[in-house]
Amino acid sequence: MPAAPKTSTDPLTHAQELLDRLLQSEIDHPVRPTLDPKKAVSDLGLAIPERGLPMDETLQRLKDVVLATPATTGSGFFNQLFGGREPVAVLADILAAVCNTSMYTYKAAGVQVLLEQILLDKMKDLAGFAGGDGLFTPGGSLSNMAAMIIARNEAIENSRETGFPGGNHVVYTSAESHYSVRKNAGLLGIGRGNVHKVAADRVGRMIPEELDKAIVKDTADGLHPLMIISTSGTTVMGAFDPIRPLAEVAKKHNTWLHVDGAFGGSALLSEQFKPLMDGIELADSLTWDAHKMMGVPLICSVMLTREPGLTGKHFDETATYLFQQDEDMLNPGTRSLQCGRRNDALKLWAAWQHLGDDGYRDRVNRQFELSRHFLARVEEDPDLTLSCDPQWVNICFEVTGKPSDQICDELDRRQLAKLGWGIVHGRRVIRMVCVNPAQTEAELDALLANVKDVAETLPDGDNSVQS
Ligand SMILES: Cc1ncc(COP(=O)(O)O)c(C=O)c1O
Repeated sequence: MPAAPKTSTDPLTHAQELLDRLLQSEIDHPVRPTLDPKKAVSDLGLAIPERGLPMDETLQRLKDVVLATPATTGSGFFNQLFGGREPVAVLADILAAVCNTSMYTYKAAGVQVLLEQILLDKMKDLAGFAGGDGLFTPGGSLSNMAAMIIARNEAIENSRETGFPGGNHVVYTSAESHYSVRKNAGLLGIGRGNVHKVAADRVGRMIPEELDKAIVKDTADGLHPLMIISTSGTTVMGAFDPIRPLAEVAKKHNTWLHVDGAFGGSALLSEQFKPLMDGIELADSLTWDAHKMMGVPLICSVMLTREPGLTGKHFDETATYLFQQDEDMLNPGTRSLQCGRRNDALKLWAAWQHLGDDGYRDRVNRQFELSRHFLARVEEDPDLTLSCDPQWVNICFEVTGKPSDQICDELDRRQLAKLGWGIVHGRRVIRMVCVNPAQTEAELDALLANVKDVAETLPDGDNSVQS
């Protein structure tokens, strides 16, 4: 049956108007006011009505909500490891929603399955995992989880079928790793207490000798090393653990090596920064979020393995009501974490079509260039203290003698910037991340000026954190 002709009550006909309004607002108000959560419910009419609203009223509420949402794409947002946008990726994501594809079978998703395969192959090639395996997941945390499941099942025979004894199997990761490692250990029955944190150096990199020592000691104590999770681009300092020597330790102890490159995996896009992940081809698996440095809308994350066939081996299920046509390769649902699954491939494919390898290389180079501009400003300013030597696009610093957390809160309250803080070497520090290549040097200078202005209005404070 042909689709019904659109009428002015079809909300999709208002899409352009709403988008124009939203995009203009990003320019006019890069940092929108934070609303009091209790007042927001009534002010914005958030409660679900018993009787449906007319379309124009619904659209008005939709517009109000969207315009009251913190902007992450403009010049005032420095708070997360994503920011800005590749516009064609956004368009593709809108189209993905309109198509409403579910990525389990070729019958339901058609060519979208091929895009996913092409992207996975491309990213595997960049990681030195050609011929390996991979899947799209709902985020870096779950990419890490997928790797942990595979590592667990590979290490402990039959655990997928008969369960996992847990208790004395240890996951090693650096003290600077992302919290998803511990969370996943809790979710997977490994136990959060069985995540052993290995010391990192002053730059934030896991120390391979300390890892080796920890494994030797634990093994002597009757524990079993399950896997090592190294990080490429730690969340606060942006440090890259040295993969090559860690791979040697992994080999010595016959242990799985996963690389959490949720943030730093994009270093693989640039010859200049690929050496930060030297030895990646020796790792067993890799997490890489395209929604962080590659400018595609959340969520877009992959987990890749060096060895072929592992996702099928550890995630397959039979379902006669679903997998009815085509070979398994064309039915990603036979080896994914989910059943119904959003299409996260189209947006990345569209961005990569448009930018090409060269464009993505330039994007990463520009992010780094911006971070070096900011770093230079921090280093030359006598009122600022650099917290650690940065390897990546994170610049951590303090306004000497002023409380970092309050500075960030105040910048937000005054609608000057969304900027976050973290802990480095036992001190609260401001964490700047240059992930939006559309931001300019002038905007970074303005941010720093605002940081200092705000700091001046605050009483002195101590950033040291009691452990
Ligand atoms: C190093 C690292 N790993 C994993 C994650 C989790 O990624 P996601 O937010 O996509 O779950 C993050 C998020 O910031 C991260 O910094």
